[in-house]
Amino acid sequence: IDIKTLRGVTNGITTIDPGYKNTGSCESAITFLNGEEGVLRYRGYAIEELAEKADFLEVAYLLIFGELPSKDRLAKFHSDIKAQSHVDEDVKKILDGFPKSAHPMGVLSSLTSALVAFNPTSVNVDNDEDMYKAIVKILAKFPVLIAWTYRKRAGLPLDYGDDSLGYVDNFLKMMFKKPNGEYASDKKVVDALDKLLILHADHEQNCSTSTVRIVGSSHAGLFASLSAGINALWGPLHGGANQAVIEMLEAIKEDGGDTHKFMNKAKDKEDPFRLMGFGHRVYKNFDPRAKIIKKSADDVLDSLGIEDPVLDIAKGLEKEALEDSYFVDRKLYPNVDFYSGIIYRALGIPTEMFTPMFALGRLPGWIAQWREMRLRKEPIGRPRQVYIGETLRSFTPIEKR
Ligand code: ACO
Repeated sequence: IDIKTLRGVTNGITTIDPGYKNTGSCESAITFLNGEEGVLRYRGYAIEELAEKADFLEVAYLLIFGELPSKDRLAKFHSDIKAQSHVDEDVKKILDGFPKSAHPMGVLSSLTSALVAFNPTSVNVDNDEDMYKAIVKILAKFPVLIAWTYRKRAGLPLDYGDDSLGYVDNFLKMMFKKPNGEYASDKKVVDALDKLLILHADHEQNCSTSTVRIVGSSHAGLFASLSAGINALWGPLHGGANQAVIEMLEAIKEDGGDTHKFMNKAKDKEDPFRLMGFGHRVYKNFDPRAKIIKKSADDVLDSLGIEDPVLDIAKGLEKEALEDSYFVDRKLYPNVDFYSGIIYRALGIPTEMFTPMFALGRLPGWIAQWREMRLRKEPIGRPRQVYIGETLRSFTPIEKR
């Protein structure tokens, strides 16, 4: 069915589907996901193969433009990104206005939105060339915004990276460069982060991606749509889960490490506590990303020579959940966020920065979905409702209420 036919079909009939559990909002050629079988593919390539063989920028290109880039194309893409990596100095003044305690996701969405003011030509993009420019700009500036957000919290000088480095290595340098400029690039760390970012790069019509598409459908512009997506990702039921997972694992450790006690809390319907990092709207078998990340967590801790007791608690919880009828019956398995925080921690990334890391990984997916929505000339997103409020009432003056 083409989009025009779909438009007509909605006239006259309203279906209700809270949480859109069975409602497709669009047709898409970007990401294939089979939740029953635990299959995830970007543009037809298995996630397992991409995580092993590709790098993050290559996957970003694939997601956005639909094909793996040739060596020359990738080199040009990278050099176009490098050429746009400066952020207007006045953005630092905006950043300065935030208290140090501000959550980085709030800061990041505000700064991304502020970029619109500094790059007004990136708003009205309706041809491929202007789109390419806007895409390259945000891929270049977003890691700078994340690094600045982190460095401001840490009381470190705000600076730029090093154009001679790869995209991920450069990001790590912007984050962790010492005030005297010292930074030791570590291949193991770069590879681990590269893999994590690839695993987060797209996940079809999740909460933040749907937000990006729906905001973009009003032609609000790429940066504004992304800013909205960042806010959607912030919530603990979505991207905020990675921070919540590590906080939960630490709370279990502090409490003496009794995983069973917390399993029972999660099962108690009177208790709002949920086992963070478990369950998924679409995966009802296992999350293929979680499998790769679990192995990666083991490898990273091993190769960096770190012992993290929280990893044992995580493994203990997973083992118990796999044998517990509550979790088995509801098909609740560890999701992508369950082990990612352990890796971020090993890489030296502080807990409040976990969700911005997710945003960095998801950026190419959001861009790809926004671009697809614009190229397909999709109509403005505007769901209907089933009204359940009062029928007509007559107005009572305030003195008589
Ligand atoms: N702990 C305990 N019980 C759970 C959990 C959990 N983590 N997740 C779901 N359940 C239970 C629900 O209470 C419900 O039980 P019931 O049928 O007895 O009422 C049942 O499983 C189905 O759960 P829903 O909330 O209806 O499932 P939904 O698809 O709406 O939610 C979600 C999916 C939000 C991911 C949920 O599983 C959850 O809150 N998980 C914890 C947060 C989390 O890890 N989020 C990250 C998701 S991945 C991502 O965004 C990157």
